[in-house]
Amino acid sequence: MSAYPTAANKHRTTRLLNIKTESPTVKTFTFKDKQCAKAKPGQFLMLWIPGIDEIPLSILDADKNGTVSVAVKKVGEATKALHELKAGETIGVRGPFGNSFTVKKGKILMVGGGTGLAPLLFLAKKLALEKAKIFMVMGAKTREELLFKEVFEKICGKENLVATTEDGSYGVKGLATTPLERILAKEKLDIIYTCGPEKMMRKVFDLAETRGIAVEASLERLMRCAIGLCGSCVIGKYRVCRDGPVFTVNQLREVKGEFGVSKRDFDGKLIPLG
Ligand SMILES: Cc1cc2nc3c(=O)[nH]c(=O)nc-3n(C[C@H](O)[C@H](O)[C@H](O)COP(=O)(O)OP(=O)(O)OC[C@H]3O[C@@H](n4cnc5c(N)ncnc54)[C@H](O)[C@@H]3O)c2cc1C
Ligand code: FES
Repeated sequence: MSAYPTAANKHRTTRLLNIKTESPTVKTFTFKDKQCAKAKPGQFLMLWIPGIDEIPLSILDADKNGTVSVAVKKVGEATKALHELKAGETIGVRGPFGNSFTVKKGKILMVGGGTGLAPLLFLAKKLALEKAKIFMVMGAKTREELLFKEVFEKICGKENLVATTEDGSYGVKGLATTPLERILAKEKLDIIYTCGPEKMMRKVFDLAETRGIAVEASLERLMRCAIGLCGSCVIGKYRVCRDGPVFTVNQLREVKGEFGVSKRDFDGKLIPLG
């Protein structure tokens, strides 16, 4: 028995409609796919680069007209091959997979880094429709790698966005977690959403725990099947592809020993997080 509706897990081919360079290492790819166009913020898809590999990617945007976007950082063989594709070329898609962020009203803080900003942008667009008040902390290594800053500024308001860069080329020098204590001391928040490097998310979780604030974090693990069968993506008792990728504060507490600490490699061995 399949864990997912056949329609989501069925492999489809489609063509790249548009490719946009977002930073020296990140490009946004847009294509048509009816199934993934129904996705909710936080869900992911499996994108097949013909002849190379199939990789998990968060959905950056999904439109009723059937258009879907993903933002991809060039890190290895598959993402490099994807970056070399041109509009009109064929890719494969499965999904959408996994759960999604809960869309809450009220006072919200988002903390994102790198391509972790992609699902948060999708979420921010939905939260804005609910008239939520959104504070945003976004981090990157350098100014050029601060993804979607202008769009976030439009949604949250410039005064509610803090950018951090590790080299100090823009905003606050340091990590995305640097301005957090100040914000947490000042604002009474209803929930924090976070996505990005796992050590950053662990720090967000620890800070929120001491103040009793709800957190939802979107985790990454190695993924192959994406439907809960192969076990590549386990963390504690959970399979990230099916039980996540979005985890609540209670679930994060259950996997505290691994969250921000270790992950499984391609052989299933626990290795320290880089
Ligand atoms: C739920 C989820 C959402 C993701 N969303 C995004 C996104 O929006 N944008 C983005 O740029 N990246 C995203 N990633 C990471 C992306 O899947 C990897 O960067 C990609 O698979 C690397 O493939 P590669 O062949 O280029 O690199 P490789 O050289 O094969 O690997 C580089 C590193 O990427 C990771 N990786 C490799 N294969 C996989 C795999 N099958 N599953 C998970 N991680 C892998 C490993 O940490 C590895 O060390 C996401 C991963 C997950 C699990
Ligand atoms: S990727 Fe196979 S169980 Fe999650």
